[in-house]
Amino acid sequence: MTEPLASTRREVAYSSTHRAEIEDYPIADIDRSAEFTDLFGRTRNYTMTSKEIMFSTYQAARYVAERGIPGDIVECGVWRGGSALLAGLTVRAAEARRPRRGWLASRRRKLWLYDTFEGMTAPTAQDIDLTNTSAAQYMAEHSDEGRWCYADEDDVRRVFAFEGFGAQDMEVVKGDVVQTCVPGGRVASRCCGWTPTGTNPPRQNLICFTPACRGVAC
Ligand SMILES: C[S@@+](CC[C@H](N)C(=O)[O-])C[C@H]1O[C@@H](n2cnc3c(N)ncnc32)[C@H](O)[C@@H]1O
Repeated sequence: MTEPLASTRREVAYSSTHRAEIEDYPIADIDRSAEFTDLFGRTRNYTMTSKEIMFSTYQAARYVAERGIPGDIVECGVWRGGSALLAGLTVRAAEARRPRRGWLASRRRKLWLYDTFEGMTAPTAQDIDLTNTSAAQYMAEHSDEGRWCYADEDDVRRVFAFEGFGAQDMEVVKGDVVQTCVPGGRVASRCCGWTPTGTNPPRQNLICFTPACRGVAC
């Protein structure tokens, strides 16, 4: 029997003045996947997403790759890139295990990374948490002059380059996804924004795996 994994912590910076620790607890059902454990170890420091949600991204990416479902991989709101990198690494590993047929015989999947790289766009009145605290109030207290959850585009490119994703493997699209994300045959999107009505991209022809979208095609 293998030893259970230890609990480990990572720090997430939402702004220069607001940081939080995330604890990745041992979860036996997840930790028994040696592949996920390896990929999560390589991506966890570049995401503010929990281990459980990263595992669901892993499963979704494997599902797409193992069934040869055509399309590129999209993430709207990448921050430092950890979730998209996990999806990219998962797809790369799964596709290396199967013959390239159909759509994949003639092209490789791309990763599309959408972000403002300047942080969240302005929250609306609908952007409140479970305790009714508004995002606007939170940002006024803790953000860097309105910049919240911001990441640096060059840093994201470096993280992907380190794992072997070059210009032919990915497109980085800077700007507000409401303007920049025009889907066309891409699948396996992961949206991230204050609310579905606030900053998520227009609902067209994407399969979303976010908890907010509950896996529905939109
Ligand atoms: C909560 S973080 C995303 C976390 C990330 N998915 C991860 O794995 O850690 C939100 C990200 O979405 C970006 N963002 C928020 N609203 C956006 C918008 N309207 N257009 C583009 N990017 C946006 C922010 O810049 C930030 O990087």
